[in-house]
Amino acid sequence: MQRERSRSYLLADEGQRADEAGRLDRQARLLFPLERGALAAHGLEPGHTVVDLGCGQGTYLQLIAEAFANTRCVGLDRHPGLLGDARARPGVMAVAQCDLAGQAALLRELDRFLPDLVLCRFVLQHMAPAERTAMLSTLAEHASKRAVRVVLADVDSASSFFEPPSPLLSEAHQGLEALQARSGGDRRIGARLPDLLRTAGFESPRASRVLVDSRTTGFGAWWSAFGSPLSAGLASRPAAQEALLEWGTHPATGDSFRAGFEVCFASSGSVRRASG
Ligand SMILES: C[S@@+](CC[C@H](N)C(=O)[O-])C[C@H]1O[C@@H](n2cnc3c(N)ncnc32)[C@H](O)[C@@H]1O
Repeated sequence: MQRERSRSYLLADEGQRADEAGRLDRQARLLFPLERGALAAHGLEPGHTVVDLGCGQGTYLQLIAEAFANTRCVGLDRHPGLLGDARARPGVMAVAQCDLAGQAALLRELDRFLPDLVLCRFVLQHMAPAERTAMLSTLAEHASKRAVRVVLADVDSASSFFEPPSPLLSEAHQGLEALQARSGGDRRIGARLPDLLRTAGFESPRASRVLVDSRTTGFGAWWSAFGSPLSAGLASRPAAQEALLEWGTHPATGDSFRAGFEVCFASSGSVRRASG
């Protein structure tokens, strides 16, 4: 059967990969201090074996290794270039190339590394529904045989705010949401993480949110992590895109402007037993 595949986040050329690897690094360093408490609240403990599904270039995994003593950190991703970066990071024990929607391949990696905790952060938003279903049902199948906690983290773009309101930013925000949807992804997926876990067979999901506010992070740091994806929402209007990029990096902008959004977390450590 032909499975529906997402075209969101393919990073076809090396220039795109290098730019995005740099942005992921800035994003992870900005958000990890805010998210660290949520990771602990959702079950991450020192000494755990952690498998990061869609680890990208590995900064987030490196920061986990630094913050949670003696974690054994493993990254899976389908992108060989990003995985090459992740492999070289301190604290990353192993990486493997794996299509997370490929059920046999993912089961094999889970059986190989036997994680205490599986993390999947900012990946579901780039997957098509059939890919998400395949990955989560694989995780449920593994969890029916082995003790493992599954932690999902993703964006809910409905939580984004800009103060004072800006028509250009709203247009960019809506444009990005539409662009990602056309490629097969979903920037509102964060709100549905508990439902996705339940549908896959996980019980009693725990849910929480982390606020990312430019007043806390500083606007310059916020823009350096999120300005380029946001401006991609104006790709069909190059002059407007240029104007937005210039506005975002202007030193005065951060004095008068505030932006933010929430990162949604959901987790579960048990699956429903089949009846009968
Ligand atoms: C936005 S990045 C997130 C990276 C990292 N999790 C983080 O939080 O910084 C999304 C990652 O998911 C990976 N990805 C998306 N779909 C995938 C799939 N079907 N199989 C494996 N990796 C996938 C991409 O290659 C990319 O590295």
